[in-house]
Amino acid sequence: MTTVPTRHLGELAVSAQGLGCMGMSHGYGAADDTQSIATLHHALDLGVTLLDTSDFYGSGHNEELIGRAIAGRRDEVVLATKFGFANRLGEPTLIRGDAAYVRQACEASLRRLGVDHIDLYYQHRVDPRVPIEETVGAMSELVQAGKVRHLGLSEAGAQTVRRAHAVHPIAALQSEWSLWTRDLEAEIAPVCRELGIGIVPFSPLGRGFLTGRYNSTEGMAENDIRRSQPRFADGNLERNLTIVAKLTELASAKGVTAGQLALAWVQHRGDDVVPIPGTRRRQYLEENLAALAVELSPEDLAAIEAAAPAERIAGNRYDAASLTFTSR
Ligand SMILES: NC(=O)c1ccc[n+]([C@@H]2O[C@H](COP(=O)([O-])OP(=O)(O)OC[C@H]3O[C@@H](n4cnc5c(N)ncnc54)[C@H](OP(=O)(O)O)[C@@H]3O)[C@@H](O)[C@H]2O)c1
Repeated sequence: MTTVPTRHLGELAVSAQGLGCMGMSHGYGAADDTQSIATLHHALDLGVTLLDTSDFYGSGHNEELIGRAIAGRRDEVVLATKFGFANRLGEPTLIRGDAAYVRQACEASLRRLGVDHIDLYYQHRVDPRVPIEETVGAMSELVQAGKVRHLGLSEAGAQTVRRAHAVHPIAALQSEWSLWTRDLEAEIAPVCRELGIGIVPFSPLGRGFLTGRYNSTEGMAENDIRRSQPRFADGNLERNLTIVAKLTELASAKGVTAGQLALAWVQHRGDDVVPIPGTRRRQYLEENLAALAVELSPEDLAAIEAAAPAERIAGNRYDAASLTFTSR
């Protein structure tokens, strides 16, 4: 029996919390497919419908893994994937949004996922060399062909969102949004709200940091992406830990974990907000889903925000090169 409420991304009904699947293939340590598939099945059993992947995660491994996990359970899933990184992991970044590439990427994702349609197809990063009208025009043709149901963008700027939505309704914008990354609040979120576009916050747990699980990068794998992220760098990490200490204090007073408090804060951004915390573990999945029941008063929200003011966050959310691909 499901206890997960429903929210809407545009016209698309989804569970109020989705499951981010990136870490099952890359970014945060070695893949363990058996454990990941058990977590995916547990998520579906508990009433999570929205699964978030990309053709980029693990250079195709993640889509193949999801395909295996949902075989026989396709109808229970709102399947979201993305295109746009035309390079493989470890190669120099190449963003492509031209119409031919959109068509080719979609076919490849359908094949890896083993499905005949994708429920929510995102452009992972905007290609500055291609007008967004061309990219979304090609995505819209995929909808007409029945290969895709709804369209999304990721890390797009406010004007791009507007132009895209004028070509075809955009159901969701997926961008980073958490207690330590609030950049989209000023301009981008208001545009989404004006246009009826849902918001899917990625890395809502600050890549795990806001749970209080990490005191250093020492135990992380050599290729863990957090090792190259400024907020985890020596000096910055220690300063950011003072924020987590305050969150942990506030969480204990409410009888929840720091991660649950951080997730509940994101969930309180609005009914059009559907975070996708990522985990490979059933235990964390359950803990994260329990955050849906955490109620925060205006006083709680103010105290949480006071614990993590923008001026106290040390370091950018991405390295300089990766930042150039965001919000454009
Ligand atoms: N559109 C984009 O450009 C973009 C970028 C990044 C991510 N995403 C999507 O957003 C999803 C979520 O973001 P994310 O995975 O980067 O970051 P996140 O959800 O903020 O954090 C994930 C990390 O937190 C750990 N974790 C999760 N729940 C926990 C808990 N209750 N207690 C302790 N640790 C916990 C996970 O550990 P374990 O893995 O060990 O369980 C993992 O290391 C991704 O999976 C991906 O689908 C999209």
